[in-house]
Amino acid sequence: MAKILIKNGTVVSPTGRHEVDVLIEGETISALLQRGQAEAIGVSADKVIDAKGKYVVPGGIDVHTHMELPFGGTSASDTFETGTIAAAWGGVTTIVDMALQRYGENVHEGLAEWHRKAGGNCAVDYAFHQIIGGVDEQSLKDMTYLVDHEGVTSFKLFMAYPGVFYSDDGQILRAMQTASENGATIMMHAENGIAIDVLVQQHIARGETDPKYHSISRPSLLEGEATNRAIVLSKVAGNVPLYIVHMSASEALEAVAEARNDGMNVFAETCPQYLYMTLEDHLAQPGFEGAKYVCSPPIRSKHDTHAHHSDLWKGLRMNELAVISTDHCPFCMKDQKELGLGNFAKIPNGMGGVEHRMELIYQGVVQGHLSLERWVETCCTTPARMFGMYPQKGIIAPGADADILVWDPNGKTTIGINDKHHMNMDHSSWEGFKIDGKVDTVLSRGTVLVENDTYLGRKGHGKFIKRGLCQYLN
Ligand code: URP
Ligand code: ZN
Ligand code: ZN
Repeated sequence: MAKILIKNGTVVSPTGRHEVDVLIEGETISALLQRGQAEAIGVSADKVIDAKGKYVVPGGIDVHTHMELPFGGTSASDTFETGTIAAAWGGVTTIVDMALQRYGENVHEGLAEWHRKAGGNCAVDYAFHQIIGGVDEQSLKDMTYLVDHEGVTSFKLFMAYPGVFYSDDGQILRAMQTASENGATIMMHAENGIAIDVLVQQHIARGETDPKYHSISRPSLLEGEATNRAIVLSKVAGNVPLYIVHMSASEALEAVAEARNDGMNVFAETCPQYLYMTLEDHLAQPGFEGAKYVCSPPIRSKHDTHAHHSDLWKGLRMNELAVISTDHCPFCMKDQKELGLGNFAKIPNGMGGVEHRMELIYQGVVQGHLSLERWVETCCTTPARMFGMYPQKGIIAPGADADILVWDPNGKTTIGINDKHHMNMDHSSWEGFKIDGKVDTVLSRGTVLVENDTYLGRKGHGKFIKRGLCQYLN
């Protein structure tokens, strides 16, 4: 079994920083060694990585991606191959992608289709949530089968996108009741899609068709309302674990904070775009440029009554927001976002970010929003525990998979289509963003994927991870 020794670095976990060396044997971490201990006990490593002056952190876990998702009249532009190579470049060693079942489709076939797409193609490890776009007797039964047999223990439902993925309150309640029996987590896209569709039609009728109206037609109040409704339904279903995805709004955060204060099994994630971007600076860019930033929930205005960015950062510090994911759902401008020229409602919803989450949130550390430990916790450790992969994933400890990011705090990264960019897109959602730090070396199960600015991974290295239940339950 090959031995790798990562020497002289600072190992960071959610609870602190440790000046230890990491010994890897084969695919797992075999020991954390005091400085000099490797020499003292005569470890002979096949490869030594000198991490002096660098942070050694668990590989990032992005629990919300959409590779190859058919959506908005097209399909997300990253395949599992291209998207997981980009993930590796960004220090992400596990993704949890969303398999799809739509109304009238079979859940097992939806999951099998996702295994076909991902199997043999991934550069990093992967797992699946299952989107349930059609809640009925059969899909409810299938949910339990997936939990018991397939290692798929979380299901995304939508209060948005009527006629596409939408579930009504009765369907949501039934899915939650099923989850309360089988232990699954319900993930919720919480926006009031019925009310939003009315507003969208009114804007279009007035000739207000530019990308910025995507945000104006989806007010934060309607994200708050839906979040609150989802929480109430989860309470009615018996305090079933509820995880609000891609939170963008202060009103939604308030609802989650209150539920958590009441001891409910309610959790939430946000994404970098909701921490950094604004309607004015991004969606309202001249011409059709704003289409690049059309995603749902939308990028919010800096003139809203609530200060969404600072509230979300605070929510992350307070653990009202437990996880940062990307909601990676990339579309090119050409032939994809362009479908919405002249009608913002036809712009495919989604942005690309799987490569940049570790970088962008590290910049939040530099700016004083989060501690280094909380960076690791929200991007690596909590995602693993939230979705039943800990301690195989999300921690640097003996027995864990050797998924490791060596991060250089003295390096610099410029994100952009002609700078750092490996996603299958014709633009970067993060063009021009500068990071005071850099991905140095990335290992997945003891295999070096990125080193010296070179990708060394291979298609098919990534394997499917069967997950257990949420590890945070009361
Ligand atoms: O705009 C988004 N978020 N696209 C991906 C689908 C979803 O709602 O997560
Ligand atoms: Zn969503
Ligand atoms: Zn999503």
